Amino acid sequence: MKSNNEELVIENLDKTFEAGGRQINALQRINLTVKTGEFVNIIGPSGCGKSTLLRCIAGFEKPSNGRVKLGGQEIKGPGIDRMMVFQDFEQLFPWYTVLDNIIFALKVTKKGSSNTERTEIAYHYLKLVGLTGFESLYPHQLSGGMKQRVAIARALSVQPRILLMDEPFGSLDAMTRSALQEELIRIWTKTKVTIIFVTHNIEEAIILGDQIMILEANPGRVKKVVNNTLARPRSPEAADFSQIWEEIHTLLGFKVREQTEGKNFANLFKEERKLSLLTHL
Ligand SMILES: Nc1ncnc2c1ncn2[C@@H]1O[C@H](COP(=O)(O)OP(=O)(O)O)[C@@H](O)[C@H]1O
Ligand SMILES: [Mg+2]
Repeated sequence: MKSNNEELVIENLDKTFEAGGRQINALQRINLTVKTGEFVNIIGPSGCGKSTLLRCIAGFEKPSNGRVKLGGQEIKGPGIDRMMVFQDFEQLFPWYTVLDNIIFALKVTKKGSSNTERTEIAYHYLKLVGLTGFESLYPHQLSGGMKQRVAIARALSVQPRILLMDEPFGSLDAMTRSALQEELIRIWTKTKVTIIFVTHNIEEAIILGDQIMILEANPGRVKKVVNNTLARPRSPEAADFSQIWEEIHTLLGFKVREQTEGKNFANLFKEERKLSLLTHL
């Protein structure tokens, strides 16, 4: 029996590319069920197919085998029920103000019945992401974090069923990144939108995700889906947080135990988090 809160279902999805006469198995037999309002993280090394999987959900790519279903319907192409936020700070229209970036998205997706209504909607979403007062600025006048907030506001203003996020905080400094993670949880709690979020960062995945899908590369396959039931807000300092971190770290192929032999694991863990990058990824 299928429960009706199965929002997104990925069924036996394969994706192969032909490049230079070679076949690339970008994704192999991916399965995942996402409930309405769930927050799912996808983590894995470079080239394991994270972006390809998001692009299949977005409908920009067609699976070679298998399917993605949204609300029981197979996805056949792009649609405004799925909006994407990218890592690139330059995803906004540079010739539009912050406000007009959102109004433009509402216009092309035929949301709002008049300019007045679209302006109201735009103000509502700018408030949601904490950008009230910045509406008349142009993208080049904003910091990276503010640009990402606008991109999130623009995507949400269209009221998608699913928000797809491809390493949206990947180019931000550690402090801004941490602030935006908190903001995103607040926004998600308020809007109840389903989020699929790709990241390279284990800590980010644990702070955000209800489910964390760990992919391995060549071919891109699911190593494990970890259910993350830690109470929110989540603190990286908590013991149970470190436990999940260690589990994912090990699954990603880094030999935590060998590295930590004779050392205090907790300290090493903190140091690595401070560095905030995993060189093996
Ligand atoms: N359009 C494409 N044509 C050929 N190969 C592609 C294409 N898109 C992605 N790939 C390949 O598929 C694999 C997965 O890529 P990608 O989804 O971008 O990985 P990730 O986002 O995890 O870094 C890589 O080997 C990449 O080179
Ligand atoms: Mg990618």
